[in-house]
Amino acid sequence: MNNHRQKLIYLVGFMGAGKSSVGTLLAQHLGWPFVDLDTIIEAGQGATIREIFEQAGEPFFRRIEHAALVEVARKEPAVIALGGGTFTQKTNFDLIRQSRGVTIWLDCPVEELWERCSTMDNRPLFRDRESFSKLYEQRVSYYRQAEFRIATAGRQPEDIAEEIILLKLFS
Ligand code: S3P
Repeated sequence: MNNHRQKLIYLVGFMGAGKSSVGTLLAQHLGWPFVDLDTIIEAGQGATIREIFEQAGEPFFRRIEHAALVEVARKEPAVIALGGGTFTQKTNFDLIRQSRGVTIWLDCPVEELWERCSTMDNRPLFRDRESFSKLYEQRVSYYRQAEFRIATAGRQPEDIAEEIILLKLFS
C-alpha cells in the first residue's frame, strides 16, 4: 500500500503511551532513523523539557515544538515519536497530514498511562490524577484521528512494534 506515501511514521498518543520505546524498536526493524521530538527539542535548547516549561512556559514550548516538527517532517525515512501534545495542536496536525506520512495512535487506558508516568520525572504536565485525566479527555478526540490505532494495554513494546510491522505499511 501507500506508494505515494512519504516514508514517515508518526507515533501519536498521550504521555506514557510508549511512543519512544516502541519507536526505537520499530525504527531498528525497518532500518530507518528514529527521531524523538522531545529529544530534538532538548538538544536544540540545551535544557530538559521540564526546564523549558519552568523557565519559558508552555506557549514557548509549543512554538519550538512546532519548529522542531517542521524540521523532522522534511527528512524521510524516519520513525518519529511525537510528544503527547504535538498532535493536538492544529498547526502540527495539519503539517503532519500534509507531510503524507502514516499516523499511528498507541492507545492505552488512562489508568495505565498514569501508572507508567508515575515512575518518571521529566513531564511537567504530569501533576495530579485529576488534571491528568482531564487532559487525556481533552485530547483523545485528536488521537482518534490517527489513521491506525494499536491497543497497547498491558503489552510490551516489542509486541506492539511487531503488530505495527505486520501492518506492512510500506511493502
Ligand atoms: C507533553 C508530553 C511530553 C512532552 C511535554 C508535553 C504533553 O512528551 O512533549 O512534556 O503535552 O502531553 P511525552 O508524551 O513523550 O511524555
